[in-house]
Amino acid sequence: MHITECTWSEFQNLQMSEKVACLAREDGSPFHTLFSQQFNRTFLDQICKLATEIRTIAKSRTGMDFLQSLLSHKRAMLYFSQPSSRTFLSFLSACQILGIKTGEVRETATSSEFKGESHEDSIRTFSSYFDLIIMRTQEKGLAEHMAWMLSNSERPVPIINAGSGKDQHPTQALLDIYTLLRSFERRGGLRDRSVMFVGDLSRGRTVRSLSNLLLNYENIEQVFVAPEPLQISKDILDALDAKGVKWTASSDMYRFLPAVDAIYMTRIQDEWDAHKGDSACIDTSTYKIGIEQMRACKPDAILMHPLPRRDEIAVDVDHDPRAMYWRQMRNGMWMRVALIASTFDCAARIDAFYRENI
Ligand code: NCD
Repeated sequence: MHITECTWSEFQNLQMSEKVACLAREDGSPFHTLFSQQFNRTFLDQICKLATEIRTIAKSRTGMDFLQSLLSHKRAMLYFSQPSSRTFLSFLSACQILGIKTGEVRETATSSEFKGESHEDSIRTFSSYFDLIIMRTQEKGLAEHMAWMLSNSERPVPIINAGSGKDQHPTQALLDIYTLLRSFERRGGLRDRSVMFVGDLSRGRTVRSLSNLLLNYENIEQVFVAPEPLQISKDILDALDAKGVKWTASSDMYRFLPAVDAIYMTRIQDEWDAHKGDSACIDTSTYKIGIEQMRACKPDAILMHPLPRRDEIAVDVDHDPRAMYWRQMRNGMWMRVALIASTFDCAARIDAFYRENI
């Protein structure tokens, strides 16, 4: 079944694997990018290779001119109704690199939503003017709903989910995987490794999306370290169990620090507190990394963070060669160029340019 063959309530009630099948295109690249479960290993290998080719091509003026000519006939709307700096700017830069013209709504107070227009009508409106909608929202299923609606309209425009509620952040997971692959590429690759997630795992969408994506790699053990109320939710652990992946959930970061290959720190997502100040009552003092904690880590372990950070990673650690979070951010831009290029079927042209010129 394809997304155009079902009603919204049928689509909404499908299992994740069935939704993924409904969204699939023949070549494996996504049209709408909604969930990290959409990416399989073949696609991940292709998109990471494409990101590296683009990164290399962009080093020269001729290469940049080529990239900017690829989608200069397209326009994208960046609809970010939730706060964002990195993701917004990295998508904006990705569009600029591909020559795409952009429009943006960042504050619904300045849009017709302020007059009572629904998100659905706003997004339907964007589809009249734009060829791609990149959206970040507070609501869990909105990107999905919009994708269904547009696919079933006369102007099916692709949607890229740039963060949906507490649930998914698929493009962050792509850049995290790309960072892990680049970090381990000369050391046996991304297999037989352990990744430890630390912080607010119950409400951190980046953790949920990355945990899912890691299931595509062989023998990656996942360790979830958080204070009990912020521990990872059962649906993620069930997905790991279904694939027979080894995992541990613990509240003791120090126990795992010396053994893991990658540490993925996250901030406390207190914007989701049921009552303001709820999470400030949780003791998070043992979920922070400073110089002393880095001493306990493996000499070749890597430290990641989706950013923004608060005090969970001390600024002193930024100079440690194992700190990857700034590089992670830059990888994000290349990965988003690759994803948009692949959404508009430009991968083969980029690959040909790379083989002819580099
Ligand atoms: C994350 C997000 O928005 O989920 N930020 C990002 O996109 N890099 C993480 C966070 O806000 O903590």
